[in-house]
Amino acid sequence: QSEKAEMKEKIRRLLKEKEAVLVAHYYVDPDIQDLAEETGGCVADSLEMARFGRDHPAKTLFVAGVRFMGETAKMLSPEKRIFMPDLDANCSLDLGCPVEEFTAFCDAHPDRTVVVYANTSAAVKARADWMVTSSIGLEIVAHLHAQGKKIIWGPDRHLGSYIQQQTGADMLLWQGSCLVHDEFKGAELEMLMEKHPEAKVLVHPESPAAVVALADVVGSTSQIIAAAVNMDAPEFIVATDKGIFHKMQQAAPGKVLIEAPTAGNSATCKSCAHCPWMAMNYLSNLLEVIETEKNEIHVDPAIREKAVTSIERMLDFAA
Ligand code: 13P
Ligand code: SF4
Repeated sequence: QSEKAEMKEKIRRLLKEKEAVLVAHYYVDPDIQDLAEETGGCVADSLEMARFGRDHPAKTLFVAGVRFMGETAKMLSPEKRIFMPDLDANCSLDLGCPVEEFTAFCDAHPDRTVVVYANTSAAVKARADWMVTSSIGLEIVAHLHAQGKKIIWGPDRHLGSYIQQQTGADMLLWQGSCLVHDEFKGAELEMLMEKHPEAKVLVHPESPAAVVALADVVGSTSQIIAAAVNMDAPEFIVATDKGIFHKMQQAAPGKVLIEAPTAGNSATCKSCAHCPWMAMNYLSNLLEVIETEKNEIHVDPAIREKAVTSIERMLDFAA
């Protein structure tokens, strides 16, 4: 038996023994995604991960993804124990939005409703009125705009300007970005589209405006996978982290999936369409954390109390 198969077997056994569940994002190691699915956990986008963690009866969750996903699970279910393979697995959006500076930005515009993306710290969520994910941000801002609300949006400037352009809402944008999606390029994508005239283009809205403008579908990771399954096209060009191709190809077996072009080759681009923090989830550190129960997520109860309101608003809206 290979070392990998042995680790997978141990993980299956320990999850069962501990009555624990594994929740994974589409960008993590394919073996972890498969394990999550086959052991009764889930592989999902950020909104579905939050909902699954909240609703599952297990008292222990292992979250394979990045820090904000573990924190969100903990805030929604403070009575559960939440562990992650590596507590340093962060996100450029979270890192680029320190709570002190974001608070000062909000305080300077007290007449605005504060809407933050899920990819933020618990403290930033605590300063917000609403938390949203990529799958539902547009609907929520459209809803607030219809009520005449002016908005502060943070931290992803590309997702923010896409929503602003779609809804016409009055939005002040924090200038953060995702280092993975920032690398996708409109001009190169156009050239690739010429070579694949039958391909539909699926784009995550953290991508730059020039890329989003070429999309047939703009959506969260789950929405992009659903589009590849449901759209009647033989080929798809996909602008998001390449981790998505594993589940996408399983879900749409007959379709040809093509990576959207990034700024350069591996020598020049910073991320090459794979998130360095999502890549910190391995079978080995997952197994270690299940065995030892180290790397538990804790959130300051005072912060949690405020932040959970903005998260629950989204979940209630989505229900
Ligand atoms: P989704 O909610 O679409 O899965 O996005 C999470 C993320 O971090 C994308 O980079
Ligand atoms: Fe953050 Fe981008 Fe990584 Fe998603 S892919 S976790 S937005 S750095």
